[in-house]
Amino acid sequence: MDNLLRNISRRKIEEALTNLSVGFGAPLLILDTQGKVLMSAGSNCRDRKSFNSSACRGGKLVCSEPLYFKEKKVGMLEMGLESANGAEIAPGIARSLESFLGLEGEIENLSSEIVRVYDELSLIQKISGMLGNEMNSERICQLVLEEADKILSVTTLFIMLLDVERQELFTRFAIGRDEESILGYRVPNTEGLIGHVFRQREPVTVCDIAIDGRLTLPFPAKSVLCVPLIADTKPVGMLIATDKLSGEEFWSQELQLMGIFASEVSSALQKANLYEDINKLFLSTVEALATAIDAKDPYTYGHSRRVAELSVAISNELGMPKDRVKKLELASLLHDIGKIGTPESILRKPGVLQPEEYEKIKEHPAKGAEILSMIAEFKEIVTWIRYHHEWYDGKGYPDGISAEQIPIEARILAVADSYDAMTSDRPYRKGMPSDTVLNIMEQFSRSQFDPVILEAFERCLAQGKVA
Ligand SMILES: [Fe+2]
Repeated sequence: MDNLLRNISRRKIEEALTNLSVGFGAPLLILDTQGKVLMSAGSNCRDRKSFNSSACRGGKLVCSEPLYFKEKKVGMLEMGLESANGAEIAPGIARSLESFLGLEGEIENLSSEIVRVYDELSLIQKISGMLGNEMNSERICQLVLEEADKILSVTTLFIMLLDVERQELFTRFAIGRDEESILGYRVPNTEGLIGHVFRQREPVTVCDIAIDGRLTLPFPAKSVLCVPLIADTKPVGMLIATDKLSGEEFWSQELQLMGIFASEVSSALQKANLYEDINKLFLSTVEALATAIDAKDPYTYGHSRRVAELSVAISNELGMPKDRVKKLELASLLHDIGKIGTPESILRKPGVLQPEEYEKIKEHPAKGAEILSMIAEFKEIVTWIRYHHEWYDGKGYPDGISAEQIPIEARILAVADSYDAMTSDRPYRKGMPSDTVLNIMEQFSRSQFDPVILEAFERCLAQGKVA
């Protein structure tokens, strides 16, 4: 009874009880099965004894009627009625109160069900929104596990993905108590409970793994919830949760919700995989382009790749964000792409260049920027390439801009490019030793090179991060 009263708004019950009391002209008392007074109307009595004596003093007959809810006795209704005849109406009053409690209980249950469904929908919408912009499969899985854990509150949650070659499922991501022991866990996709869920493509909960006997985990667990990840009608993995912290069994609503979660993960993972494939293709195209640029000048073979490695080391040393480092790597691979338009007779000339030939070479940063400006993905790196031969003091080319006017990425490129050019063999001279090159570069600190970047580069060399 106490629980029942707790679930329904107390104000509503008090209102109903007062109405009944006024309607029948009788003081009323609701008691639990132990006789504890829970509520009263038409009297200020806090216990049964005082209610009885007060009702009797008023010349009333005290009647008791059991109260039932869902066919179970939940308490008592005591009424102070006018006379023995009034006792006939006692069951009617009790039944009226029961119907009210039942109806209100249903309404309250429905309300909490609506709130639960609304919360779930909001959560799904939130997940869907977050995953919609996410192209990194690791972050997708991490995000989903964290959100799923907020709902389920379990000891361990993990995502297993399909290893197509070995036809096995392996744990790719995990959170919770047994995160360490579950990572690296592998099972054939045809065996046991996981094989069953994988084949049937239906979520399953098991209350007692030991009794079920189809699942062996690398850590102790009693209950488990397994939801398949389906992409394009094919199973590609599994979302698994073990033991709720509350010790309760998994509910069917939770299984349902995890099913929706799993379908969100599957489509996000599919999209991310596609994006990662396209990105790999894009990067290998850039690498191929870089090789083609270097091939124009066989003496500088591998120059673009080496400049990329030096630029990455310097930018990491300067603490630049990962995505910028990645873009700078691309820019480094393509920094000399403008040389595609420089005659090979000049690029391959074994001797010192004539002034007009040097002027031709000087066109390559602007040409490179022009070529790349046609590709939307290179929008940001176009200026870095245009300015990689600018000098810190403004005496470089093509525009003669100086210091902070030159993007930091272009200043890094300038250091990496010059170092590799001077340490590499040329048709008319041998590559110089690293120390000699550094001495020369130091003489050009503040004129050609940004001193902060040159110092960062020297630290990279000293720490053996680059050679
Ligand atoms: Fe260049």
